[in-house]
Amino acid sequence: MVPPPVGSMALTSLRFASLFLLHDPVFDGASAPSPFPGPADGLANSTVHPGNPDKTPSPSEDPYVEQGESAFREVKQLLEKDDWETVEEEDGIVVKKHYNDKYKRYDYLSETVLNASAEVIFNELWWHYERSPTWNAETTGVEIIKRISNDTMIARVISADQGSPYITRRDFLSVYSWHHVDDTFYICYVSTEFPGAPSNEEYTRGSHNPSCFVISPRADGFTAFRSVLNADAKVYAFLEPIFRVAMIRAMINYAAALREYAPKLEGLS
Ligand SMILES: *[C@@H]1O[C@H](CO)[C@@H](O)[C@H](O)[C@H]1NC(C)=O
Ligand SMILES: *[C@@H]1O[C@H](CO)[C@@H](O)[C@H](O)[C@H]1NC(C)=O
Ligand SMILES: *[C@@H]1O[C@H](CO)[C@@H](O)[C@H](O)[C@H]1NC(C)=O
Repeated sequence: MVPPPVGSMALTSLRFASLFLLHDPVFDGASAPSPFPGPADGLANSTVHPGNPDKTPSPSEDPYVEQGESAFREVKQLLEKDDWETVEEEDGIVVKKHYNDKYKRYDYLSETVLNASAEVIFNELWWHYERSPTWNAETTGVEIIKRISNDTMIARVISADQGSPYITRRDFLSVYSWHHVDDTFYICYVSTEFPGAPSNEEYTRGSHNPSCFVISPRADGFTAFRSVLNADAKVYAFLEPIFRVAMIRAMINYAAALREYAPKLEGLS
């Protein structure tokens, strides 16, 4: 991979915003694994591989369950920290950051309020995660690689074409798990490896350090939504400052898109 020419940096920086969003691009699972169809194929029509949600994980799948548990524990600790710093506040959406010593990167946290119940939001983000490209422009597709059990799955997101021949697309492969504690749903995710979804030369594989959607009911029937994200898009160090800015924008866009979509969910299944 050749470094991008400096002149193209500004043009591509916003595009890069989507790299950080886990809710990022992906492809139509129907024709997986390779070659991956472009964003146009995956755009309006992603496919789920439901696997067998009710089955208990086999011993060989336990490591995924453990990864999910461990990501959840880390995110819970992050949320309890009192040194989150507000970096952006816009139209009811707040973004904060916190430097993570373990990963030597910032954790980002967005917060907003959604007009739907916590159950409905959880249901959408867990059981219809592949549908996110239909409501969120930051995402061009999602593939559910495997539902390992009721509460653990492997999913892959692939970044959109960066519009430059010098920049490869990113993909992220993560294990997701949900946890229900004191009325709050946590859908946590962290990078993993899976035999059925190896990286390939077409994509640079980014990584997610423990990240999470946090969905809490409010007394007024609305839902407090938080997204914690710690992503490494494996970009050149000199581009990192640009990406940090782009990332904040992408988190705002995602929260705004979910907020707009939420009231429409009651009617969907
Ligand atoms: C998605 O694909 C299914 C089956 O291939 C098809 O029936 C459906 O019309 C497609 N939906 C869209 C929005 O393209
Ligand atoms: C799967 O989750 C549902 C609730 O969403 C629960 O009723 C069911 O018992 C769970 N199945 C297993 C095998 O854990
Ligand atoms: C919340 O959504 C419902 C539709 O489900 C709508 O009737 C209501 O006006 C919305 N409330 C607010 C405050 O936006």
